[in-house]
Amino acid sequence: MPVLNSQQLLDLGNKLLVAAGASPEEAATVAEELASANLVGHDSHGVMRLMQYAQLIEQGYIKPGQQPEIVREGPAFLVVDAHFSFGQVASKWTLEQLYDKAKKCGSANAFIRNCNHVGRLGSYTEQAAKQGYAALMSVNAPGPGQVAPFGAMERRMGTNPISMAAPGNKESPIVLDMTTSATAEGKLRVAHQSGKKVPEGWMIDGYGNPSTDPADYYNEPGGCILPLGGPLAHKGYGLSTMIDIFCGILSGSGVGRTDLPRGANGVWMQLLDIEQITGNDEYDRWIGPYEEHIKSAKKCPGVDEILFPGEMEQKTYSERIKSGVTIPDETWRQLNELAAQLKVTI
Ligand SMILES: NC(=O)c1ccc[n+]([C@@H]2O[C@H](COP(=O)([O-])OP(=O)(O)OC[C@H]3O[C@@H](n4cnc5c(N)ncnc54)[C@H](O)[C@@H]3O)[C@@H](O)[C@H]2O)c1
Repeated sequence: MPVLNSQQLLDLGNKLLVAAGASPEEAATVAEELASANLVGHDSHGVMRLMQYAQLIEQGYIKPGQQPEIVREGPAFLVVDAHFSFGQVASKWTLEQLYDKAKKCGSANAFIRNCNHVGRLGSYTEQAAKQGYAALMSVNAPGPGQVAPFGAMERRMGTNPISMAAPGNKESPIVLDMTTSATAEGKLRVAHQSGKKVPEGWMIDGYGNPSTDPADYYNEPGGCILPLGGPLAHKGYGLSTMIDIFCGILSGSGVGRTDLPRGANGVWMQLLDIEQITGNDEYDRWIGPYEEHIKSAKKCPGVDEILFPGEMEQKTYSERIKSGVTIPDETWRQLNELAAQLKVTI
């Protein structure tokens, strides 16, 4: 299996995206988000997405060259129409507008409609936390969905992720970034492409039976991802419902649409300026001892360390920035197939 370093991941993304129709600037933004997802360990949101993005460009769902536009605005909120530009481009652009509003008002919200796949949410909230904000980003999938509502055996909802980040005691922010389903769909795809089973509780087959074979999700009759929470999945389902409303309905992206491809998103972002709300000194006075308090808890047998949300990704980044990222053979085959179609060498 090939191992790619950070620069090779970026080059791969840039070449394939430009060949598929992106401008060099768009390609740079998207390639950077994909490479950073690989580097922090979320391969499901890394370069394996290039095949999907190239197909969505070809089908006209991703529209390179479109500029995001503010369609409604107040002192502390904005609604952006991404016009189906790249989700990463629209999200970064919106975040920049939101910094200005949050600086003026103390807090601000943004909603993005007609947005393509934004990638790893934690990347955006982490950037905001590094600028001194407590940040939230959540995404719904207005399309047909992958996840069954609690008690159902048909897909109706997206994996509807949410990320919250805030400055930590040291350099790295604390970054929660999670689906409200038992897994991200990309993780099923990684397992499927690697010929591996998935843990129990992630999915059911097309007949409503528990399954650990990702093929049962993709083959007819397609299965469903389950909401987060195992026996308490009504909670993951409830959170996902509210994300559909906040991200889908408030943004104008909608819910339950059948005219959108997988990957279309409605987005909600919120920034809270810590300096204005509590003061950075006061925040720092609490966050250090809080980290101590949590991390000093007596560990269960077999546990080496209590981790904060986001710490696993920071550890993986430290390893992968040195060792590189292993690309599964099937993903590499598909990337080469795409490169051949687009007549570029990778
Ligand atoms: N753009 C989209 O439409 C979309 C859709 C779904 C998912 N995603 C992305 O998929 C990625 C994967 O989501 P996921 O739910 O599978 O993530 P995950 O289950 O790997 O991690 C969820 C959270 O748990 C934390 N965590 C992991 N191990 C931990 C430990 N031992 N102790 C303490 N905390 C720990 C992580 O830091 C993270 O904040 C995310 O980056 C998400 O943004 C994006």
